[in-house]
Amino acid sequence: MKDLQFDRHRRLRSSDSMRALVRETRLHKEDLIYPLFVVEGENIRSEVSSMPGVFHVSLDGVLEEIKEIVSLGIKSIILFGVPKEKDPLGKQAYHDHGIVQEATRLIKAEVPELVIIADTCLCQYTDHGHCGVIEDGKVLNDPTLDLLARTAVSQAKAGADIIAPSNMMDGFVAAIRYGLDEAGYHDIPIMSYAVKYSSSFYGPFRDAAHSSPQFGDRKTYQMDPANRMEALREAESDVNEGADFLIVKPALSYLDIMRDVKDRFPLPLVAYNVSGEYSMIKAAAQNGWVNEKEIVMEKLVSMKRAGADLIITYHAKDAAKWLTN
Ligand code: PBG
Repeated sequence: MKDLQFDRHRRLRSSDSMRALVRETRLHKEDLIYPLFVVEGENIRSEVSSMPGVFHVSLDGVLEEIKEIVSLGIKSIILFGVPKEKDPLGKQAYHDHGIVQEATRLIKAEVPELVIIADTCLCQYTDHGHCGVIEDGKVLNDPTLDLLARTAVSQAKAGADIIAPSNMMDGFVAAIRYGLDEAGYHDIPIMSYAVKYSSSFYGPFRDAAHSSPQFGDRKTYQMDPANRMEALREAESDVNEGADFLIVKPALSYLDIMRDVKDRFPLPLVAYNVSGEYSMIKAAAQNGWVNEKEIVMEKLVSMKRAGADLIITYHAKDAAKWLTN
């Protein structure tokens, strides 16, 4: 044994302080983006049953929610609207008094420093639940682009700081950039859901946003989970069309894709830690099967290690609390 040669990796793991010195990846509160569901109506603050700890909030309760978020040190939210009225063309998405537009105005007037990201999609607003215009049972690409650009412009007009289109039509970044520029919003960045897979991990969100497709699925526009090269093609198009941030979604099962995208494109990369990923941990934690704090922090830091600069996560409030203590 005396002459045995080997490396002593454990030297750098000997104590908390030693481990902190050599830690390669850190999570900061500034990395976290909190998704907020705003709903039309009054006096509503109802917990989404498939997402414990996540609430639908009506406008009258939004500022209270925002106060909590800001006091925890979170710098940014992404807004999802749940409208009362739906129609085939998703008109409430681009209505100047739509729920996201109203919430944005309200929050901006009160807390201007909070960065508001507007999710730009049609599926919560269409009665068929698809992310675009339908004809003969098909989701039409090009006619949808115009509606998306209109939605983005009305969100920017209401005061949104960042536009985040999530619908996966081809050309959506180009169309939105063109629309924003034409309306004078040259300075509003686009955070593109560049790489969005057709995923079962969105299940609880669709309950929360009432946005399940009423027929078929989203596989003709969202990506096949089996594909990796395609993610690079999608990201490249969005970069060429003028995206300022790239999102990879979902996060946990797609850390390899995040690394691929980060290595190739020098833009801020955003992980979307989606609803199903949240709810699985919540359910297991409620049963006492996992340590919620430890498992959440481990998965968030793993996303950063994989290349994410920012993380959209329903755990943001909890994580911000844990980062303070
Ligand atoms: C669609 C959209 C989806 C999510 C955000 N925006 C999913 C979808 O139904 O395709 C999912 C977010 C989540 O699961 O947390 N506009």
